[in-house]
Amino acid sequence: MSALIKVTNLSKTYEGGFTALKDINLEIMDGEILALLGPNGAGKTTLISIICGIVNPGEGSITVDGKNIIKDYRDTRRLIGLVPQELTTDAFETVWNTVSFTRGLFGKAPKPAHIEKVLKDLSLWDKKDNRIMQLSGGMKRRVMIAKALSHEPRILFLDEPTAGVDVSLRKDMWQVVHRLRESGVTIILTTHYIEEAEEIADRVGVINKGQIVVVEQKKELMRKMGTKKMFLDLHQALESVPQGLSSYDLELVEEGRQLVYTYDTRKERTGITSLLGELNRAGIKFKDLQTEQSSLEDIFVNLVKEQT
Ligand SMILES: Nc1ncnc2c1ncn2[C@@H]1O[C@H](COP(=O)(O)OP(=O)(O)OP(=O)(O)O)[C@@H](O)[C@H]1O
Ligand SMILES: [Mg+2]
Repeated sequence: MSALIKVTNLSKTYEGGFTALKDINLEIMDGEILALLGPNGAGKTTLISIICGIVNPGEGSITVDGKNIIKDYRDTRRLIGLVPQELTTDAFETVWNTVSFTRGLFGKAPKPAHIEKVLKDLSLWDKKDNRIMQLSGGMKRRVMIAKALSHEPRILFLDEPTAGVDVSLRKDMWQVVHRLRESGVTIILTTHYIEEAEEIADRVGVINKGQIVVVEQKKELMRKMGTKKMFLDLHQALESVPQGLSSYDLELVEEGRQLVYTYDTRKERTGITSLLGELNRAGIKFKDLQTEQSSLEDIFVNLVKEQT
């Protein structure tokens, strides 16, 4: 995969002096789904807005498909569809007209067959003659996506596509995203729902206070940064963790009936073998054992915490 978008040494200070982005370097690959995670105010919307040409970049440069977003603005913008964080649609227009009109704004000739496909893909076909104000919130959000896809972009930015959307619609949205990717669209989305990133992203980028803390293949991130926990269900409850085991990261829970051992999967030795040996020597018997990998959520919380 090659880089479709290249962000190089990008910094942004808003009028008034607030620095929202600090020296961002990021490559977005052709055909991938990249999720950007970060707390409120981290700079996600700023970054997206700059790439889409809505906010002026400060220092640094950005290319889309090899072209500079400022010098070749029209060419790069045409490749991009954007679903902004704030919903903005004309309440009195019909779904069909709104979406068709947006295509025209990009200087593309009408193509009703494409508009029809987009509306069908987003389950909006039976609403095509409804006015926007007659739709539910989730349907309005889908209209925003339809607008962003009206001009057949190669890249789709979704700024919190599922904020305030119910669970079943969120899952629909994930399917839409997957289908789009299968059709070759590169997708960048921001989200606060970490399980969303876990579910649909190929790569995950974490932004905090205007800086990219990490960008990594999702699986690799979970493997590299994750800790694991091993749960040992004991035959007999213990009053405290035995002295001889104090060098292990152990916690006694469930009224002394379960020992929890936390270990780092990055280390060459996890300590499991020796711990089990020590337990055996101490005469502590267990009935069952499970392990659990930490979630993207744990990793995210740790990364953002470490930085503050
Ligand atoms: N037009 C502006 N003028 C001045 N400061 C701004 C402007 N837009 C955003 N900011 C500031 O820049 C920082 C980053 O904002 P941004 O909207 O990019 O965050 P975000 O990561 O998208 O947050 P959220 O998750 O809440 O959407 C915030 O501190 C915000 O107050
Ligand atoms: Mg935002």
